[in-house]
Amino acid sequence: MPEWPEYGDDEAKALLEVLNSGHWGSTSGEVVATFEREFAAYQQADFAICLSNGTLAIAAALRAAGVGIGDEVIVPPYTFIATASAALFVGAVPVFADVDPETHLLDPVAAEAAVTSRTKAVVVVHLAGRPADLDAFTALGARHGLTIIEDAAQAHGAAYKGRPVGAIGDVGTFSFQSSKNITAGEGGAVLTDDDKLAGALYSLVNVGRVPGGGWYQHEAVGYNLRLTEFQAAILRVQLRRHPALQEVRERNARLLTDLLSRVEGICLAPEDPAITAHGRHLFMMRIPGRRETVLESLTAAGFARASSGYVPLHRNAAVLRESKAITDKLGQPYPEADCPNADTVSTDTIWLPQTYLLGTEAQTRSIADTITKAVTG
Ligand SMILES: Cc1ncc(COP(=O)(O)O)c(C=O)c1O
Repeated sequence: MPEWPEYGDDEAKALLEVLNSGHWGSTSGEVVATFEREFAAYQQADFAICLSNGTLAIAAALRAAGVGIGDEVIVPPYTFIATASAALFVGAVPVFADVDPETHLLDPVAAEAAVTSRTKAVVVVHLAGRPADLDAFTALGARHGLTIIEDAAQAHGAAYKGRPVGAIGDVGTFSFQSSKNITAGEGGAVLTDDDKLAGALYSLVNVGRVPGGGWYQHEAVGYNLRLTEFQAAILRVQLRRHPALQEVRERNARLLTDLLSRVEGICLAPEDPAITAHGRHLFMMRIPGRRETVLESLTAAGFARASSGYVPLHRNAAVLRESKAITDKLGQPYPEADCPNADTVSTDTIWLPQTYLLGTEAQTRSIADTITKAVTG
């Protein structure tokens, strides 16, 4: 299967240009700022602020939105740990609401049921690159005065009702870590249409500085989360590569969907007309009762990077320990999680990584064939 990342002379040339410019950091160079403008335009957001990774992007988004000690942040349990740990980094408590078992995505009804007087934000994850029900979540945010954060770490280029994700909610976060569909090894970005949030994020990324302000003028307490010019140089080229690669992923994902949806025992997420572009970061399916057999067959056929997916975060001892430490200290009740759907999907889900969507038609058919034989055999 194709190696990832795909790169070539353009990345090498861009890196050399930064090297020879002598401007390796964004405090003197222009490459990060240029990529920020390009990425904001690509995702149709007014502002993009780059930072070191997708984990701290969520923490910075929460902090910019004023989420802090003892506040509650509603998150899905079936996601990468950063979605929940980011809340802990700002002293807030991640509160788990269940996912929809057909899509693996946060269920807006379950999220609304988890709202309390302490809730300040909801982090909605576009898992696998599939946009969540943003109409429902933006309405929920408006009803309860909550900040809606889109965790779009896996959803570059994904669109909901024709609009790219990231700034449909109040703020959206992206990752450029090694496995992602746009990558510089590490890196992240936060998008928003809200100029106040954008200003707060700039400050959080730049040790409390303000745009156009002095070097030692720290108007807020901020981190240093800056991306380097080298990373931005690679990201500019990777962004240009993205549309063509997405076409390949989309074509292969459609073929897999067509072939596997005919097989009894395999559950694929339903089509949704609101999803006008899928980010195609993971190809997910549920295979109740036969998951381990299928994974063994995929490994034997040379597709060893198929995965059994996440362990749900409401079962993660470290997350629970830290959450309870906060609620105990503040004398707040700890909101116990009840997420049976996340428990179930974690026992029968398989996903294929995005690189398996970049193969030839023959390779794609071979993956489908291997899975089909293991399920029906
Ligand atoms: C859903 C989700 N959120 C957040 C992150 C965190 O991104 P990063 O690895 O860049 O910190 C990731 C990626 O690993 C992710 O998949």
